[in-house]
Amino acid sequence: MQLAARMSRIGTESAFEVLAKARALEKQGKQIVHLEIGQPDFPTPAHIVEAGKRALDEGWTGYGPTAGFPEFRELIAGYIAKTRGIPVVPDQVCVVPGGKPIMFYAMLALLEEGDEVIYPNPSFPIYESVIDFIGARRVPMPLVESRGFSFDLDVFASKLTSRTKMVVLNSPANPTGGVIPRDDLAQIADLLRDRDVIILSDEIYSRIYYGDAPQSITQFDGMLEKTIILDGFSKTYAMTGWRLGYGVMPQWIADAVNLLMVNSNSCTASFTQRAGMAALTGAQDTVDMMVAEFRQRRDAIVAGLNRIPGFSCTLPSGAFYAFPNVKGTGLSSKDVADMLLYDAGVACLSGTAFGELGEGYLRFSYANSLANIEDALSRIMKVSERWATVAR
Ligand SMILES: Cc1ncc(COP(=O)(O)O)c(C=O)c1O
Repeated sequence: MQLAARMSRIGTESAFEVLAKARALEKQGKQIVHLEIGQPDFPTPAHIVEAGKRALDEGWTGYGPTAGFPEFRELIAGYIAKTRGIPVVPDQVCVVPGGKPIMFYAMLALLEEGDEVIYPNPSFPIYESVIDFIGARRVPMPLVESRGFSFDLDVFASKLTSRTKMVVLNSPANPTGGVIPRDDLAQIADLLRDRDVIILSDEIYSRIYYGDAPQSITQFDGMLEKTIILDGFSKTYAMTGWRLGYGVMPQWIADAVNLLMVNSNSCTASFTQRAGMAALTGAQDTVDMMVAEFRQRRDAIVAGLNRIPGFSCTLPSGAFYAFPNVKGTGLSSKDVADMLLYDAGVACLSGTAFGELGEGYLRFSYANSLANIEDALSRIMKVSERWATVAR
C-alpha cells in the first residue's frame, strides 16, 4: 500500500520539528532557551478560561451549527466591522478550529490546478504547502528588508498574469514582523481592482503592533467583494490550543467553506466558541498588557541582536518575531540556527523554514521572558566568536 501521489506535494511547519529537537536535547539534560515557538507565552486571560469552564458545566458539549453559533458570528461580524471599518453581516463569518483551516479551505474551494497564487516569501509555510498540495502554481513575492519587509510594488505588478487567481497578504507578518503600509495597500488594491483575483488577507496578528494600527485591504474600494479575512483568537487572546479562528468573506465563498467544514470537522467545539464570546465582549486590557510586554522584549532582543557580530536586525512593527539578517556571518541560516541550538542552547528558526527567500535570516520569537531573552543573547554572543573573524 502506498500514499496518494498528492501527499508527496504537501509540506509541513518546521517550527514543530525544531521544537522536537530542542525537547530531545532537554531530555539529555541540556538547558534550552525557546525562541522558536510562535505562540504567546501568556496564559489565556482568566475571564475567558472561566467562560470556557462555565460553558462545559452548562452543557455546551454537543455539536453546534457548522458555521458557528449565530450569536458568536454576530459578535465577530460586529468586531470586524468595527476594527476594519467595513460593513459585515454574520452570514459572511465562518467559525473554524483556528486560523489555519481558513487557508486550507479557501485555497481548496477556489484554486484549480495551474492557477497562480502570489504569496510573500518568506512567509507562513502552510501557504506554500497548500498551494503545492492542490497543484496550483507558486508565485513567490520577495519581501524587501529595506521596505520593512513589504513588497516591491513594481515587482508585484510584474507578477500579475491572466492566470493569477489568488494573492496572499499577511500583515503584521510572520516571520518578519513587517506591517504593510497603507499606501502600499492602496496601490495593491489599484492593481487588483479590475482583476478576477481573490485576496487571502491573513490578519491573525492584527492586534499585535507597535506603531500605527495595521490596515486591512478590505477598506479600499472594490476589495471587500474579493477578500477573505483570516483572523482568530490564537494570538490576540493567547488561545492557540483552544483552536478557535474564523474567516470573513463574500457569501458565495462562505457557502463553500461551510461545505468543506461539514465534510471535515462538522463544527468548531461548542464550549470553545462560548469562551470566544467572552473574549470579544470582555475587558481588552489583557491584550494591551501583552502587547506592552512584547514591545519591551522586542526592543531588548533587537538591540541585543544588533550587537552580535555579523547580525543586523530591523525593528519589527508587529507580531512577536525578530528577523535578523545574518549574512554577515558568512554561514548559511541553517548552519547558524543549528550552531545556536546545539552549541548555545538557543532554539530559533532558519529563515528558510519560511521559504527559500528566507536564506540569510533567522526568526526569533520573543514570546519568552525578558530574562530568558537576555540569557539567549549572551549565549549567542559567546558562540558568535566562531564567525566573528569573518563577520563584516
Ligand atoms: C501568519 C499566520 N497565520 C495563521 C496562523 C495560524 O493560526 P492558528 O493557530 O489560529 O491556526 C499562524 C500561526 O502561527 C500564523 O503565523
